Amino acid sequence: MIEADLAVVDAAELVTVPGPAPKVGGALRALGVIERGCLAAREGRIVFIGDERDYRNRVRLARRGREIDATGLTVLPGFVDPHTHLPFAGDRDLEFLRRLQGESYESIAASGGGILSTVEATRRATIDELVDLGKRRLDRMILHGTTTIEAKSGYGLRLDDELKQLRVLQRLNDLHPIDIVPTFLGAHVVPRERRDDREGYVRELIERMIPEVAREGLARFCDVFVEEGAFTTQEAERILVAAAAHGLGARLHAEQRSPSGGASLAARLQAASADHLEHLTPQGIEALCRAGTTAVLLPGASFFLRDPRKAPARTMIEAGLPLALATDLNPGTCPTESLGAILPLAVLELGLLPSEAIAAATLNAAHSLGIAERVGSLEVGKEADLQVLDIPNHRHLIYHFGVNHCRMVVKQGRVVVEDGILGAVEP
Ligand code: NIG
Ligand code: FE
Repeated sequence: MIEADLAVVDAAELVTVPGPAPKVGGALRALGVIERGCLAAREGRIVFIGDERDYRNRVRLARRGREIDATGLTVLPGFVDPHTHLPFAGDRDLEFLRRLQGESYESIAASGGGILSTVEATRRATIDELVDLGKRRLDRMILHGTTTIEAKSGYGLRLDDELKQLRVLQRLNDLHPIDIVPTFLGAHVVPRERRDDREGYVRELIERMIPEVAREGLARFCDVFVEEGAFTTQEAERILVAAAAHGLGARLHAEQRSPSGGASLAARLQAASADHLEHLTPQGIEALCRAGTTAVLLPGASFFLRDPRKAPARTMIEAGLPLALATDLNPGTCPTESLGAILPLAVLELGLLPSEAIAAATLNAAHSLGIAERVGSLEVGKEADLQVLDIPNHRHLIYHFGVNHCRMVVKQGRVVVEDGILGAVEP
């Protein structure tokens, strides 16, 4: 008999999203659905997956163990959100209004708004204020089924304020059930006070900021925004090569607003991910495929910017490129914490199937962060990170859009959300 201390039983659909990771091509839609599915865990890890009969025959629940009845409900792996700008202060709702009245994202940025206005607000905020704001965002995320995220700095743009943002992430990782993979994005844009000294800023990133971030162990990845008005491919290459020398993996904001060349750079550097990719070319797709880089698509950002240009997701899937989905949570281009809200956009705007969108927001997202051996799917040996949704099958997550179906969240074998309410759990 298999001993367990937690079980979720009799789900209408237990969606396992089986590996190997990454799921590519036709395998992306193979969700490994088990009807009347059961899962059992012990000490935070999954020890059994199977159907009801198998479960009754093979699993014994510890005396203090808990069995959760999921009759009529759907169980999915917890979402993994591989691209967020979590630690920021302030909002940009007035800029949003300006955009609705005809101004562009770029013209607002050029007039002193945009990223730089969030930099000002974030520099002014104390570490405690940022922790409080971050915690409230993480609470909203977990209530929507997200159990692991990547989060970037990039609103400090000078050593102390970048370190402050990364320390906020460290504190949040310690105090909140959601696991955070931190990324250094000091190369988001050139800060206002260095406008006439961009070479000096790039050198400071390479010679001072990256070494310090690495020395303190505050980031696992380094990201660069490759775009007109941000950084060139040449600058990005120098920054990411320096980051690699300090043990940081590469992620890039690439081909978002223009064909910036970021994707071929990502491929050349064998980056973990290239993100956005609205302007990705067929050659770019091929290069990323060969490099094994994951394409992280952010349809919430193009939706929110009303950008008619969409990432060529179907061509990417047909080419065998690993695809992941993320929110891009940030105050300018996608102020939502809900990865579940992004899935209908991926399906309706990018042409993914519901099954493909779910695999992209779980196992492939985990793969892009280098943690697919631990999280992202419901398989024996992995961490028991899951969500129980009040829907009869996984398609309803997309079809029945605009509401939060997530009723329960289990993180590393502990129930952290119950009846749609976040409990006061210790991390
Ligand atoms: O991913 N593209 C660059 N960075 C963010 C936007 C940040 C902001 O506007 O504050 C993005 O869309
Ligand atoms: Fe982003």
